Amino acid sequence: MTTRKGIILAGGTGTRLHPITLGVSKQLLPIYDKPMIYYPVTVLMLAGIREIAIITTPEDQPQFRRLLGDGARWGLSFTFIVQPSPDGLAQAYLLAEDFLAGAPSAMVLGDNIFFGHGLPDALAAADARATGGTVFGYRVADPERYGVVDFAPDGTVRAIVEKPERPPSHFAVTGLYFLDASAPDRARAVRPSARGELEIADLLQSYLDEGALAVERLGRGYAWLDTGTHGSLLDAGNFVRTLQDRQGLQMGCPEEIAFQKGWITAESLRAEALRLQKNDYGRYLLRLLPA
Ligand code: G1P
Repeated sequence: MTTRKGIILAGGTGTRLHPITLGVSKQLLPIYDKPMIYYPVTVLMLAGIREIAIITTPEDQPQFRRLLGDGARWGLSFTFIVQPSPDGLAQAYLLAEDFLAGAPSAMVLGDNIFFGHGLPDALAAADARATGGTVFGYRVADPERYGVVDFAPDGTVRAIVEKPERPPSHFAVTGLYFLDASAPDRARAVRPSARGELEIADLLQSYLDEGALAVERLGRGYAWLDTGTHGSLLDAGNFVRTLQDRQGLQMGCPEEIAFQKGWITAESLRAEALRLQKNDYGRYLLRLLPA
């Protein structure tokens, strides 16, 4: 199988977070001690993915480039792609088609935060599926805000319904999609919805219709956090702070994962740590270095 490539969709206008997002992209806002996009980047890294396309609005691309660079300091390679207007999640596969060049992909939304003990295994299982796709279902109290899984009585998945007034279950589809190489072709067949967007639910339906979509449930031991409102943004930051302070371990730390995976040398890690040594994040990186 061709190596899976990553896509981070970090476009959108962040309307629900105005006035904050009038001046800065939502996915660059802090979640406690690091920019929001670090969390989805590290999810892809945990899945073993090193070639990543970052899709942003035209206006925001320079700031993402300034923050992330070309990826080499984390052992990654970033490609920046512009989404001229936010015309739906499925559009990402059309914008990234040349970048993917026939490879399977894992797309993660730039505002989705995942945490859980079994995450690397769940990612590995999804990656191992060479054809079809995998999405992750997570129980939430307010499914009507998301894509929702419609289960048939025998437990198989009938459909994924986008923001239903009457949710067919409590399981939201998280913003992490492992799809095979056919995703761009399938995206081309998706027609704009009533709200004028190329819906991810319609793209996923084409896999479902062929029995080619696995819906893995992330159980209650996982955290899948929302960052879409002022309150949930603060809650996510507090969650990260609580966990990191208690454990003395970083969540969503690209340098740490790159070093553990052998993608960067101790010398590179030291250089990164020294750049940031005036704060706890930099001091944490220093402690990762072998004595
Ligand atoms: C999008 C998807 C939705 C998914 C959600 C996860 O919604 O359309 O299916 O459940 O992301 O974050 P949005 O957040 O763009 O409204």
